[in-house]
Amino acid sequence: MSYEFTLIEGDGIGPEVTAATIRVLDAAGVDIRWQSMPTGAAAVASHGSPLPDETLRSVERTRVALKGPITTPVGHGFTSVNVAIRQALDLYVSLRPVKSIPGVPTRHEAVDLVVFRENTEGLYSGREHSPVAGVVETLRVITERACTRITRWANDYVRNEGRKKLTLVHKASIMKLSDGLFLDAFNAVTDDYPFLTHEARLIDDVVRGLVIDPSDFDCMVMENLYGDVLSDLCAGLVGGLGVVPGANIGDRYAVFEAVHGSAPDIAGRGIANPTALLQSGVLLLRHIGERSAAAAVERALFTVLERGEVRTGDLGGRANTAKFTDAIIATLHAQG
Ligand code: NAI
Repeated sequence: MSYEFTLIEGDGIGPEVTAATIRVLDAAGVDIRWQSMPTGAAAVASHGSPLPDETLRSVERTRVALKGPITTPVGHGFTSVNVAIRQALDLYVSLRPVKSIPGVPTRHEAVDLVVFRENTEGLYSGREHSPVAGVVETLRVITERACTRITRWANDYVRNEGRKKLTLVHKASIMKLSDGLFLDAFNAVTDDYPFLTHEARLIDDVVRGLVIDPSDFDCMVMENLYGDVLSDLCAGLVGGLGVVPGANIGDRYAVFEAVHGSAPDIAGRGIANPTALLQSGVLLLRHIGERSAAAAVERALFTVLERGEVRTGDLGGRANTAKFTDAIIATLHAQG
């Protein structure tokens, strides 16, 4: 089987970590032709826009993209390309699996969680205004449609990945209408999945529980702001944003990306750690049904990290991106 997917290299270390990821996916024997599309600062120079139409058209055609981080100027310049891509392609699920990585020491062992964040509404609707001087109102939009579709998507994922439990994270005790709507939608959808375990917990109870004993949780679904905060908390449980994968997924399209930024402080030096994007590449392979290749890449990555001989500087090693990538590919080949 051969594939054609969109490649968005991104800014800063983006070209370095995307190149490393593509090398490993290629070494895993998955035949992917990449259509490289302009985005970010380079696209402003060449196309007058950080997100040219032709880039969106490419994802609409290939349906799957691998994306490096994109620099968002602070206070001026273009608005977030990441948010624009999610909105334009209706990528309503932010998928963040968070799993302990061998050889990356953290406070808790054997963490294995999945966060599903609703990506399109809540306080991120961006609807703010100032009715009188010194007062600002932000509209928190919650719709039954959005709550229902992400809850259904999350339940399907839990079932398909052979996981057991889905927790709705909410604050319906205070936001009785908006979070109450999410709670009602959750209860209605979960009736269709009687073979899974479901629970609904207040967000304050969840954050306390996560830092004490993450093994109390399995998969968690929630609205936008809760998901933004909680997914970063979960990343911290396994070593931080530099090692966890992410994906933004809708009914038609999926964009796989690292959670970290474009790291301008180390860009162009060939020393970036490609682990996070490579893990996103593993998610991509699973998404397209290449499950044995996904398992092989994850095994090779984890083996190299566990041995600890070849690591990038952010994980305390001295290897550059190319050497670390070579070690993963050599391990992949040795696994047979
Ligand atoms: P950052 O994640 O780029 O960097 C924070 C620190 O982590 C830096 O010291 C950097 O060198 C290090 N780091 C990050 N990724 C690394 C990697 N793969 N290997 C080794 N070290 C790594 O966060 P920062 O500095 O806040 O953001 C820089 C730019 O990236 C900003 O313009 C921001 O808007 C953008 N950004 C883009 C994202 C995306 O496209 N998904 C996500 C987050 C930030």
